[in-house]
Amino acid sequence: MTEQAAIFQSIVEQRRSMRIYDASAPFDTEAVKRSIERAALAPNSSNMQMWEFYHIRDAKMIADIAVFCMSQNAAKTARELVIIAVPKAKYKARAQANFQFHHARYGGVPVSQLDKRSQRKLRYFSHLMRLYYFQDWFGISGYIRKCIVGISSLWRPVVWQVSKQDLRVVCHKSAALAAQTFMLSMTAEGYATCPMEGFDSKKLRKYLGLPRSTEFNMIISCGPGTKEGIYHERFRVPFEEIYFVR
Ligand SMILES: Cc1cc2nc3c(=O)[nH]c(=O)nc-3n(C[C@H](O)[C@H](O)[C@H](O)COP(=O)(O)O)c2cc1C
Repeated sequence: MTEQAAIFQSIVEQRRSMRIYDASAPFDTEAVKRSIERAALAPNSSNMQMWEFYHIRDAKMIADIAVFCMSQNAAKTARELVIIAVPKAKYKARAQANFQFHHARYGGVPVSQLDKRSQRKLRYFSHLMRLYYFQDWFGISGYIRKCIVGISSLWRPVVWQVSKQDLRVVCHKSAALAAQTFMLSMTAEGYATCPMEGFDSKKLRKYLGLPRSTEFNMIISCGPGTKEGIYHERFRVPFEEIYFVR
């Protein structure tokens, strides 16, 4: 094992879900910001970066949000909270940002003057991603995409996950990778975290003044940990039950 792998192993092993934080130990809010910056480097679907991070530092806001978290200890005793949101309505802006990045990389010349490969890359963001992410209220566009994919599947492999619900999964997968990056980073910074999905998302959305289209991936509480905040030793099913070599 390399030295880096050993360090990573110890970070992974140290991370536990913390339910009671230390109210008096020093806490560096900059470690949270640094960890969010690292989280934003997580791999994500088509680099659309369909995430937002709300760093809640204000004590009154933490107390209010803890109520939405069913007054769980992990939220009530938290020194700070990080809310990972999925701003679904921002897909056009994210596609445009990617388009601009790649267009600049290709020298900013008119798209028609680029080679076919570069044109395909740019069209991916100017057309395909916009079509892929477009949602109507009833999910009809998703059914249309499914039909197109179904027909295409007759002569080539296709990605079937194009419905409204599939796209939610796509976005939340990426956001969860950012969440885990954040938690491991906080562990490396010497602090504890607890991911939470047990909260009232509607009340939280209203409280933060976010649009209805914004979903929450999870809320992560953080702070200096305590011994009593780890409720029991770690339990995982036997590795042989989840590991398959084919
Ligand atoms: C998506 C997700 C949601 C979770 N929601 C909660 C929660 O609402 N409250 C809580 O106390 N723990 C929550 N947890 C923590 C899990 O219970 C915990 O990760 C699991 O029991 C394994 O323990 P460990 O994290 O200490 O290894 C959540 C974890 C994940 C990944």
